[in-house]
Amino acid sequence: MRMKRRRAPTDPIERVNRLPDEEFIARYLQPSSEWVTEWKHPRTNALYDVSLLRSEKLSESDLTACFDLIEETSRKDYENSTTKWQPSKKLKEMRSPDLRYILVKDAADTDGSSLRGFTSLMPTYEYGQAVIYCYEIHLKPELRGTGLGQLLMSFLTTVASNIGKPITKVMLTCFVANQKGLEFYKKLGFDKDEISPGPRKLRHNKVFTPDYVIMSKTAVPQLNTENNSTADGVQSRGGGK
Ligand SMILES: CC(C)(COP(=O)(O)OP(=O)(O)OC[C@H]1O[C@@H](n2cnc3c(N)ncnc32)[C@H](O)[C@@H]1OP(=O)(O)O)[C@@H](O)C(=O)NCCC(=O)NCCS
Repeated sequence: MRMKRRRAPTDPIERVNRLPDEEFIARYLQPSSEWVTEWKHPRTNALYDVSLLRSEKLSESDLTACFDLIEETSRKDYENSTTKWQPSKKLKEMRSPDLRYILVKDAADTDGSSLRGFTSLMPTYEYGQAVIYCYEIHLKPELRGTGLGQLLMSFLTTVASNIGKPITKVMLTCFVANQKGLEFYKKLGFDKDEISPGPRKLRHNKVFTPDYVIMSKTAVPQLNTENNSTADGVQSRGGGK
């Protein structure tokens, strides 16, 4: 049987997506002082483990815990939207090979249900723009209003800045009904992106207004290439390790 040789990816985003997690962290997160593997709750002082792993490395119980958390925080918004709540479609999306998860787990809870929050991200192209897409960010109620959401989003901005060219921004979708989410993103400097669809005129003078908004925030490229490897594959001295 003839074996097909796997060609080296020439697309810079594809190259980033092929990196193993350890290298992804070393190149795009560790050069930043914000990256942590342990987080302390500011009110309770409880400790939480922070880890990054790609979807295929996620255990079934972690995937289920992430899914359950999405259902807990957002099922109503999905149900009230044109998207509707479609569990199998959501699970399929959650298993997308290029998605990486940043999990926040209660360090004291070792019974397998320790997930308390997570975000998921993917370097990808959206309408021709190279972006870091934030697929999800969800925290258990006891972790909200602690600065953790801001910290997790800062990891995504850091990844975008450290990848640099061709990534230009961090992008996400939020339901219009999720006013708290929208306020949170605005506070972090996100604005409605130019690709976010506006109201559409339908027949019989009807107007369709989308129930979601696409938001983005420009990522400032990391100028210190001493600590950075660009997505173009130009590895600088030091390599961020
Ligand atoms: C949205 C979410 C991730 C935010 O995380 P969080 O830890 O509560 O937010 P933070 O404490 O990091 O807040 C960061 C900043 O945003 C502000 N902020 C957060 N929520 C806000 C709100 N509803 N209105 C106004 N400002 C808000 C905070 O005041 C803080 O600003 P400050 O530093 O000046 O005080 C969290 O509330 C959550 O998991 N919600 C449910 C799931 C969800 O809706 N996810 C988004 C789906 S699109």
